[in-house]
Amino acid sequence: MLITGGAGFIGSNFVRKCLSDSSVDLVNLDKLTYAGNLCNLEDIVGESRYVFIRGDICDRHLLAKIFQDYQPSRVVHFAAESHVDRSIHSPADFVQTNVVGTFTLLEESRAYWSALSENDRENFRFLHVSTDEVYGTLDADDPPFSESTPYAPNSPYSASKAGADHLVRAYFHTYGLPVVTTNCSNNYGPYQFPEKLIPLTIHRAIHAEAIPVYGDGRNIRDWLYVGDHCDAIRLVIARGKPGEAYNVGGGNELLNIEVVRTLCSILDDLRPHDPVFPHEKLITFVKDRPGHDRRYAMNFSKIRSELGWSPRETFETGLRKTVEWYLCNQKWASQVTSDAHRQWLASQYSV
Ligand code: NAD
Ligand code: DAU
Repeated sequence: MLITGGAGFIGSNFVRKCLSDSSVDLVNLDKLTYAGNLCNLEDIVGESRYVFIRGDICDRHLLAKIFQDYQPSRVVHFAAESHVDRSIHSPADFVQTNVVGTFTLLEESRAYWSALSENDRENFRFLHVSTDEVYGTLDADDPPFSESTPYAPNSPYSASKAGADHLVRAYFHTYGLPVVTTNCSNNYGPYQFPEKLIPLTIHRAIHAEAIPVYGDGRNIRDWLYVGDHCDAIRLVIARGKPGEAYNVGGGNELLNIEVVRTLCSILDDLRPHDPVFPHEKLITFVKDRPGHDRRYAMNFSKIRSELGWSPRETFETGLRKTVEWYLCNQKWASQVTSDAHRQWLASQYSV
């Protein structure tokens, strides 16, 4: 299996899960941007079924060589620029990796796949990991997004993911490449870079720093534990129908301010001696994100009825487990955010 972006948040959870619960051999291609870190995978160094390659999905010569060298029967495509706020400041990186990178990966997959035997062509799968944000935003009383909701992306991030989704779809319809797409809601769990709401809140709360809540804090997201997302992806690779998209969600629609308050109260329990207590005192309402989508919600009845998937972790247990993980792994957080660590990576690998 070729995985792209396997050193990021969801990709590293996926790599770990595949290595522990299956006998699959994995090649992980990752550029190691600020969001990708080998310390997310420190515990699997030396695993004989795993190979790491540092490189860019926009590099078609590298991709061709990887296909030739490793002959994968699966491609699972996580690599992306993933943070909405960064897409507002630097949209070009998002078009480059999410659109051009996905296009390049599709082209090299097609070239490799076309030359396979008929049996291997049928067995091949390209799974594209996408997001609920491609559907745009919902009003309070709108029904949740389904797979037939028209695309209406609102940020450079979601527009670039929508562009990638359309290319993936076109490669099935035009060339017959056996692709499947998953569109998932907000993930949370271990190894998420501390720029996203949940790890950022934990990180700042334990360092007695203001917790920034955008606008009125009443935007709604549907939260899913990362392990449940990884299980959904594995099921869709194994049993999803080529050419189809599957929505994946947690059924946990919450206001941002509710999420932040719940985190603060878990931290009150676990860290009653922090300098700022209760942790809620740190909540600070700040200027809203431009174009901020109000509400996301997912109808995931298709993957539930066709493939038998549903989330296993409740938000209460998942969130507590997540807070405990970040508290036990504060060294990880300082490593992934330190400049020294980035410089070390640059000197250790060269692209
Ligand atoms: P992340 O930002 O944590 O990780 C992205 C990974 O991709 C990093 O390891 C990075 O180094 C790598 N990467 C970036 N550009 C690359 C390039 N040009 N070539 C090779 N590697 C490159 O992202 P994540 O949160 O783990 O998200 C993974 C995928 O899932 C993305 O496609 C994202 O759009 C999608 N998704 C994320 C969520 C979420 O809540 N995090 C929800 C739904 C879908
Ligand atoms: O919905 C799936 C998407 O979820 C994924 O496709 C994206 O890759 C992932 O980053 C995530 O996007 P969001 O923009 O929803 O996630 P983020 O954690 O950045 O923000 C969650 C909500 O919290 C959002 O409404 C903005 C708000 N927020 C975020 C930050 C970072 C704050 O109020 N304050 C903050 O400091």
